[in-house]
Amino acid sequence: MKKVLLLAGMLAFAGIAGAQVNIVPRPVSLTETSGTVSLNSNTVVQMNSEKLQPSADFLNDYLEQYYGFMLKKGRATGKFHIQLSLKVDKLPTKGAYSLDVNDARVLIQANSVEGVFYGVQTFIQLLPAEKNAALKIAKVHVKDEPRFAYRGMHLDVCRHFFPVSYLKKYIDYLALHKMNYFHWHLTDDQGWRIEIKKYPKLTEVGGYRNGTIIGHFPGTGNNNKHYGGYYTQEDVKEVVAYAAKRYITVVPEIEMPGHASAAIAAYPELSCFPEESTQAPKGTVWAGDTTGKHVQQTWGVFPDVFAPTEKTFAFLQDVVDEVIPLFPSKYFHVGGDECPKDNWKRSAFCQQLMKEKGLKDEHELQSYFINRMEKYINKKGKTIIGWDEILEGGLAPNAIVMSWRGEEGGIEAAKQKHQVIMTPGSHVYFDHSQVKPDDSLTIGGFTSIRKVYSYEPVPKELSAENAKYVLGAQANLWTEYIPNTNKIEYQVFPRMGALSEVLWSPKASRNWDDFNVRLEKQLQRYKLWGVQTGPVVAEMK
Ligand code: ACM
Repeated sequence: MKKVLLLAGMLAFAGIAGAQVNIVPRPVSLTETSGTVSLNSNTVVQMNSEKLQPSADFLNDYLEQYYGFMLKKGRATGKFHIQLSLKVDKLPTKGAYSLDVNDARVLIQANSVEGVFYGVQTFIQLLPAEKNAALKIAKVHVKDEPRFAYRGMHLDVCRHFFPVSYLKKYIDYLALHKMNYFHWHLTDDQGWRIEIKKYPKLTEVGGYRNGTIIGHFPGTGNNNKHYGGYYTQEDVKEVVAYAAKRYITVVPEIEMPGHASAAIAAYPELSCFPEESTQAPKGTVWAGDTTGKHVQQTWGVFPDVFAPTEKTFAFLQDVVDEVIPLFPSKYFHVGGDECPKDNWKRSAFCQQLMKEKGLKDEHELQSYFINRMEKYINKKGKTIIGWDEILEGGLAPNAIVMSWRGEEGGIEAAKQKHQVIMTPGSHVYFDHSQVKPDDSLTIGGFTSIRKVYSYEPVPKELSAENAKYVLGAQANLWTEYIPNTNKIEYQVFPRMGALSEVLWSPKASRNWDDFNVRLEKQLQRYKLWGVQTGPVVAEMK
């Protein structure tokens, strides 16, 4: 993959963008005094609460991985040391912290465990970006807090499957960018990826496909390779626990009523037409048996969706019953996007149901579907999130809307006093190309890092009152054209750096030229981490 470096206006800003201190996302305030302090294997890390152990562990793991040593734990004896401190004080925002580096000590202080963890992330960025370098650290005073409560990254593990070991890396990358939500897209047409003990065929059958198209949809052929995989419930617990130690909440997504081909391949009775064979879109070359229900081998949107029958609701409720205990998250994502209504239109059962329930069209039937599931999930103490199609036919009473088809869904939902997470395709779809002409196969679109950096999650159409419903934003990584982890990183970096600043830093401090200077150091850090990075492109269109 060709790398293009188009750094716009290399303006050096005083202070924060100085030679040594380049923090991404930019802190609320940072002052630097002259001189440095040094860190080595004799330096002690001290905590005033055992609750801060995950922060100390993260710091030590980082130091060991990149500089080959760990800090000593215990009590400092007057010598230079690092102190992590949980302290109830006047810092008001969840995640707020202060960081002080002087000749006597490094003090990271917050009134929450998350805050101390974010202070550690900033501290890590004071370290040199070269492996095993001498650890001279600038003396700084930082006071910082996040702008948004929801700072998310999504990953689709259905179109392509990635192992638990890689998910942990991905979660570390989120942590290093002060992000706090991992949206795990677990079910789709091309694979069901979470073990459900009551329905073993979901993963035995639904977890695998007989082949995958080659090239862009509808494909130039089929690779005829049996492909798939799934996470056991033990795997899921491991990922969730790993994320929790990094103060990252994992939000599961179980898609309904569309994107259901894999579930239907496992249990055809969930379809309106169980006896009909799975249709491949025109132009797609199919691998293996063409009769009966199958996991999809190509990308897009498929008409064989869940039938709104009592059987389906009982099935989905059983799935919810097994998924909820695995995820402490208060949110449960039900999908809700891209559900074609063709099968519901030609199903006598659906038409009769609509009459009985007084539903005037199939959009209202989708609304009925989501409302029913919301009620069930709410009873279990969880709030649903759905893609913005859940607005069509009437929004479920307590639902959070994830706005992806532009900002309109988010604006509408906020006006209806529903909480909103912004993920518009125009600015934060990291499956899009980031360079023109495209230098590798992507889904298309063009979203340069500068465009990501320019994104403002609070639409100007919202009043100050309604703007409060915007919880934050998230970048989505759909993996149709992302078959391996190198490609994940190429798509994610360096755009995640830009997004982290959109989500964390004060709106007023957003400045592309200033970011660009700090990005140079951030790119060195990415190199230190061994990640494959995409190009820095300043064009917006
Ligand atoms: C989506 O991109 N279909 C939510």
